[in-house]
Amino acid sequence: MTDILILVAFFFFIALFVFGLLWVLVPAMYGLPSRPTHPDRIRVALKLARLKADELLYDFGSGDGRVLVIAAREFGAKTIGIEIGPAQRLVSWLAALYNGVSDRVRVEAGNFFKSDVHDADVVFIYATSTEVAKLALHLEGQMKPGSRVVSISADFPEWEPSDFDGDKLIFVYEMPPKPGSWTTYLLKKTD
Ligand SMILES: C[S@@+](CC[C@H](N)C(=O)[O-])C[C@H]1O[C@@H](n2cnc3c(N)ncnc32)[C@H](O)[C@@H]1O
Repeated sequence: MTDILILVAFFFFIALFVFGLLWVLVPAMYGLPSRPTHPDRIRVALKLARLKADELLYDFGSGDGRVLVIAAREFGAKTIGIEIGPAQRLVSWLAALYNGVSDRVRVEAGNFFKSDVHDADVVFIYATSTEVAKLALHLEGQMKPGSRVVSISADFPEWEPSDFDGDKLIFVYEMPPKPGSWTTYLLKKTD
């Protein structure tokens, strides 16, 4: 009996170790670590992006699924996460199940640089300025007029935000994006 318990504990810790490795290493291989957005910041971002019930939200790199769960549970949105990490996808799936929103949350294995977002109403991004700059053409070429991109911390250098929260550093862009920048937005606001 003791032998079986030791064996079970051994395999449990091995599984935990592999899970931890996957959680850290897979995002690191793509250059964007798994760093979640604070729930209050997510709520402010989704309000600023004017997310409405039954609209479709994509989260680019959905991590532990918190953006998807908040969008589905508190805003009534349909959500799709594009996530490269298998450990993150498993946690998102469990979070959606636990919060009773699995019918409104889908997590797809994939690279957000190759995603199809023609049907998106809102795309949520928490990435570095490098990824954001690389995503501009991809989003501009696909997203429908009136849809929004909401970016945490990093602005799109060649687009003028339609809304901005200076406290939480959140940028919203309505499609098609207006040529300009964060600076042109601020200059207009201070005129
Ligand atoms: C900074 S976290 C953001 C998590 C979540 N969106 C949030 O705001 O809480 C970035 C996530 O993107 C994932 N990721 C990194 N590069 C990716 C890529 N090219 N395609 C899809 N997911 C990616 C990482 O695994 C990680 O979970």
